[in-house]
Amino acid sequence: MARFTLPRDLYHGKGALEALKDFKGMRAMVCVGGGSMKKFGFLDRVVAYLKEAGMEVELFEGIEPDPSVETVMKGAEAMAKFQPDWIVAMGGGSPIDAAKAMWIKYEYPETTFEEMCVVFGLPKLRTKARFCAIPSTSGTATEVTAFSVITDYEKGIKYPLADFEITPDVAIVDPDLAETMPKKLVAHTGMDAMTHAIEAYVSTANCEFTDPLAIFAIKMIQRDLVESYNGDMDKRASMHNAQCLAGMAFSNALLGIVHSMAHKTGAAFADYGAHIIHGAANAMYLPKVIAFNAKNETAAKRYAEIADYMNLGGNSVEEKVQLLIAELRKMNDALNIPQCIKNYGADSYPTENGFVPEDVFLAKLPDIAANAILDACTGSNPRVPTQEEMEKLFKCCYYDLDVDF
Ligand SMILES: NC(=O)c1ccc[n+]([C@@H]2O[C@H](COP(=O)([O-])OP(=O)(O)OC[C@H]3O[C@@H](n4cnc5c(N)ncnc54)[C@H](O)[C@@H]3O)[C@@H](O)[C@H]2O)c1
Ligand SMILES: [Zn+2]
Repeated sequence: MARFTLPRDLYHGKGALEALKDFKGMRAMVCVGGGSMKKFGFLDRVVAYLKEAGMEVELFEGIEPDPSVETVMKGAEAMAKFQPDWIVAMGGGSPIDAAKAMWIKYEYPETTFEEMCVVFGLPKLRTKARFCAIPSTSGTATEVTAFSVITDYEKGIKYPLADFEITPDVAIVDPDLAETMPKKLVAHTGMDAMTHAIEAYVSTANCEFTDPLAIFAIKMIQRDLVESYNGDMDKRASMHNAQCLAGMAFSNALLGIVHSMAHKTGAAFADYGAHIIHGAANAMYLPKVIAFNAKNETAAKRYAEIADYMNLGGNSVEEKVQLLIAELRKMNDALNIPQCIKNYGADSYPTENGFVPEDVFLAKLPDIAANAILDACTGSNPRVPTQEEMEKLFKCCYYDLDVDF
């Protein structure tokens, strides 16, 4: 038996934010990030709509990108004091993910972070509050997913929490919020969405309910991402929907080792100048992982189907897989995303000598590879790598080498 779960309600289209006016409740806690939602007036609108609905509103502001365990604990404390019956999380994946974890701790104050990380092991939520998510980036689709990614900075590791209990009750997918994204964010979140859709399509947990969502999202992202990046706001609106469709697919079909690898490298080199931004990590690793997974016959056929849907041509499965890899690399170039970690420069732009020194990378490689294998996303990848293979794969991602094993 398999399960397919999505939010009960999804409001979409321009102006969808207004749906908040009709929410029923007493107290809403609005969780947001560092200031973009306030700066562009969306936070004020959300507060006004909730007040119009007759609710008392309190803010939890300042949730950082790639949120920490500490932030989650602080937010849960604020919720314990305010006792909301609605949690409204708005912004990118970071504040929404943090709010999901706060929600768990609010409902079950005794739960430790380690307990939250037990995959599909959460107790029943909604005894205290329901959850509404409003995305302002077009990538993570956390507004419809059963996931939350929290970083343990002491260990330098991102932990995906996974359970249908944290699938939001309501998602509001309003393209107005995506219009203010800077170009770089459009690029990264867009390739994150592409990775979600492709990994969901070849995941061992794919099914007839997830395939149409994944394949349609892939087509939309191929068609619209680069033009959205270049400032076309109709395409930007389309990308906001496409990433959500990809989320519906992967929340139910799960992901693969591109995400395992991105989770374990995101914060690993933070001491050397920057995070490897989630979407950029995925964009660099995806073509390498496709070549690796395509050694599995079933996965290769699925990649070839994707290439067919993308109208890439090719006469054999092998040729189609190569054309898919080439198309994704072409998108990276058009979006100014480097092809490998070695060239991952300041601000995530391609450069000859990136911020991750070769000796540091090689020293950390065994641990990173071991952690990536243990990541929750590895279980549904079509080919399970050994430690040796994972290290080789990471080397291909560092030096931009062809994957021939
Ligand atoms: N829960 C899931 O299913 C899931 C899936 C993939 C990734 N993730 C996680 O989500 C996080 C990344 O989320 P993200 O890529 O959405 O970015 P983010 O939430 O980290 O935001 C990045 C930056 O963009 C700014 N920003 C957000 N929206 C904006 C807008 N409309 N205009 C201007 N600035 C804006 C933020 O203030 C922040 O500084 C990572 O931690 C990643 O691991 C979660
Ligand atoms: Zn992702």
